[in-house]
Amino acid sequence: MSLRATHLDVEQLVEVIQCGRPGTGMPSHVRDPYKDGSCYGITKDTPDIEFPMQANAMLRNDEIAAVAEYVKTYLQGKGEPTFSECAEYWGENSQNCRDFKPSHQSSVKSDPDKVSK
Ligand code: HEM
Repeated sequence: MSLRATHLDVEQLVEVIQCGRPGTGMPSHVRDPYKDGSCYGITKDTPDIEFPMQANAMLRNDEIAAVAEYVKTYLQGKGEPTFSECAEYWGENSQNCRDFKPSHQSSVKSDPDKVSK
C-alpha cells in the first residue's frame, strides 16, 4: 500500500514505524518491541504472530517522529505523485519522471484499470 493512501494518524504512524507490521516486510525500529505489549498490545507470547524483523539501521525516536510528520504532511491524502514532485527530487530530465509527464501517452502503471490488456 502506498503511504499516500494510509489512513493512520500520527500516533499510529509512529507505532507502525517503531513496531513494524507483523506478518509483513515492514521492519521495526525499537529494541525488543514486543517485550511488554506496548506494540499493538502484542507480546512475544502471543500465539500465531509472525514478528517483523528489526531494521538494519534503526531510527531514533526523534527521527521516527519526524518521519511520521513527513508522511502526514507531504504524502498522506496527496493522491498520485505529480511530475513536479518527481522533478523536485530527480530533476526534470530524469527518466524516472518520464511517466509522470502530463503529455506522456503510456499506460499508467499505478492504475491497473488503465493498463491495456
Ligand atoms: C522509514 C521508512 C518507512 C516508513 C515511514 C514506513 C511506513 C509504513 C507505514 C505507516 C505502514 C502502514 C500503512 C497502513 O497500514 O496504513 C507501512 C506498512 C508496510 N511497510 Fe513500511 N515504512 C518504511 C519502511 C519500510 C521498509 C524498508 C519495508 C520493507 C523492506 C517496508 C515494508 C512495509 C510493508 C510490507 C507494509 C505493509 C503494507 C500493507 O499492509 O499493505 N516498509 N509502512
